[in-house]
Amino acid sequence: MVRLTNLLLAAALGGGVCLWAQAPKEDAAAIYKRQCAGCHGPDAKGQTAVGKNLKVPDLTSAAAQNLTDSQLFDDIAKGKGKMPAYENNLGHDRIQELVAYLRQFGKGPAGKKK
Ligand code: HEC
Repeated sequence: MVRLTNLLLAAALGGGVCLWAQAPKEDAAAIYKRQCAGCHGPDAKGQTAVGKNLKVPDLTSAAAQNLTDSQLFDDIAKGKGKMPAYENNLGHDRIQELVAYLRQFGKGPAGKKK
C-alpha cells in the first residue's frame, strides 16, 4: 500500500514538473505581444496611445538598434524611466530572447513589415 501511494505521488509530481517545464516555452514574440506591445506597439515604433503619452522610443530606429545587446538587456531587466523592470518577471533567458527579437525590428523585411 505504502509503495503504491509513493508511486502515485511520484506520478503526480512528475506530471506537475512536466507541466511546469512547458510553461516558460512561450516564445519571445508572444512575450513581446503580451508584455511590451501595449507601450511599444506591435511594430515596436511606440505609436500606441500609451506609447505616445510616455514618449516611448522607436525601437526600430538606428538610435535604439545601435545600442549593444547588453545595453538593451539592462534596459529591459532594470527598467528605464517610465519603463518597468522585467528581471524578476521574465528572468535572464527570456530577456535575452527578447533582445534577439528586438533586433528583427531593425533589419530586413521583418523590420519593414507594416
Ligand atoms: C509601461 C510602458 C512600457 C512597457 C510595458 C515596456 N516599455 Fe520599454 N520603454 C518604455 C519607456 C517609456 C521607455 C523609455 C525610457 C527612457 O528612456 O526614459 C522604454 C525603453 C525601452 C528600451 C530602451 C530603448 C532605448 O532607446 O534606450 C527598450 C530596449 C525597451 N523599452 C524594451 C521593452 C521590452 C522588451 C518590453 C517588454 C518586456 C518593454 N520595453 C515594456 C515603456 C514601456
